[in-house]
Amino acid sequence: MNILVVGGGGREHAIIKKIKENKKVTKIYALPGNGGIATDAECIEINTNEIEKIKDFAVENEIDFAVVAPDDPLVLGAVDLLEENGIPCFGPNKAAAEIEGSKVFSKNLMKKYNIPTADYNVFYNSDDAIAFIKDNNTYPIVIKADGLALGKGVIIAEDEKPAIEAIISIMSDKVFGNSGNQIVIEEFLTGPEVSVLSFTDGITIVPMVSSMDHKKAFDDDQGLNTGGMGTIAPNPYYTDEIANLCMKQIFVPTINAMNAEARSFKGCLYFGLILTTNGPKVIEYNCRFGDPETQVVLPLLKTDLLDIMIAVSMQKLDNVKIEFDDEAACCVILASGGYPVLYKKGYEITIDDIDKNIQLYHAGTKLLDGKLVTTGGRVIGVVAIGNTLFEAIKTVYLEIPKITFTDCYYRKDIGTKALNKRK
Ligand code: AMP
Ligand code: GLY
Repeated sequence: MNILVVGGGGREHAIIKKIKENKKVTKIYALPGNGGIATDAECIEINTNEIEKIKDFAVENEIDFAVVAPDDPLVLGAVDLLEENGIPCFGPNKAAAEIEGSKVFSKNLMKKYNIPTADYNVFYNSDDAIAFIKDNNTYPIVIKADGLALGKGVIIAEDEKPAIEAIISIMSDKVFGNSGNQIVIEEFLTGPEVSVLSFTDGITIVPMVSSMDHKKAFDDDQGLNTGGMGTIAPNPYYTDEIANLCMKQIFVPTINAMNAEARSFKGCLYFGLILTTNGPKVIEYNCRFGDPETQVVLPLLKTDLLDIMIAVSMQKLDNVKIEFDDEAACCVILASGGYPVLYKKGYEITIDDIDKNIQLYHAGTKLLDGKLVTTGGRVIGVVAIGNTLFEAIKTVYLEIPKITFTDCYYRKDIGTKALNKRK
């Protein structure tokens, strides 16, 4: 089979390495891929938003199956376009991707179908939003741009002044463009956060092993929000009891709600959960695999990934028995100094003799005249699997010094919170 994977980050590298294990695969193309993916697939310089070009490439190269991994092409309708041209895909169509593409849509969906989430209001102009903030006078308060905003569209305001500034920058200054035409203002929830990725074909839903992201740039959750500085799996806060509750109150109701709205979801549905004292609540849905959650979840998957993806696209997921290893995984992201704000690119990366049990998932790397150089904020995810979480964390941190580039930084405490919970 000829496989096409749209995307070029660590998540896509993890997906490609798994797909490669399937004996039916003869060729994998990555659009655009990166310096590490280049050893596992043929990288083609087409950006993930250029959905017409993606479709043309897929048709010309007789692609048998496509995986659309990032949010933007999914929300733009890449799957619809590919399927209209006879190419089966893993990923939701445009109507279903709206669950991530519009926070107003997803909040209203949860309200309509009684799926637990933070209380909220929707605003269509800044005057009404500011009047609400003043009247409500409760902090912290959470302000969310409606549409995609490169992971930056959520602002937690500690006081009236930053809350009003956030509203003005999103709705009047349009820092996220049309994504800020509407906003959601919601109550601030507290509790441990859990990411649960799931496979679903719109009929059956199979949650994957749970994970924990570390979104802040520095140790002890200090600094700015990033795309994710590291992950561990499984998440010890997510007990079997909570998992059963989530299945009944959140996962199945979400699939049913999407069907009732004629937006049947096929692909990977990501539940961002917060475990409050009043039970688990949804803080966000993503219409795709999370990054860097995928880098710890897929290495623990025992069942063949491509077989699952094909079953999802054919709505035959109930025919596949999905199993995970009973081990633990830790991913630490090596980032460029200055990320998530300003950072330099083009530094050479050297990698010494890494332990064969370590996986390196490249994100911001490219090959330049045969040399590997940095080209993004998140550069490489270093992943270890262990019998215990402690072992996985220890192995990752022992190996990291073997990878060097100028201004490299990473968090030293990935998984610490999870280990403390276990004690
Ligand atoms: P998102 O971009 O939707 O993933 O949100 C980014 C982060 O903001 C989440 O991972 C949470 O840590 C935080 N967050 C979002 N909504 C809430 C909320 N209602 N209460 C507390 N924290 C939140
Ligand atoms: N790690 C969170 C996300 O992929 O959005």
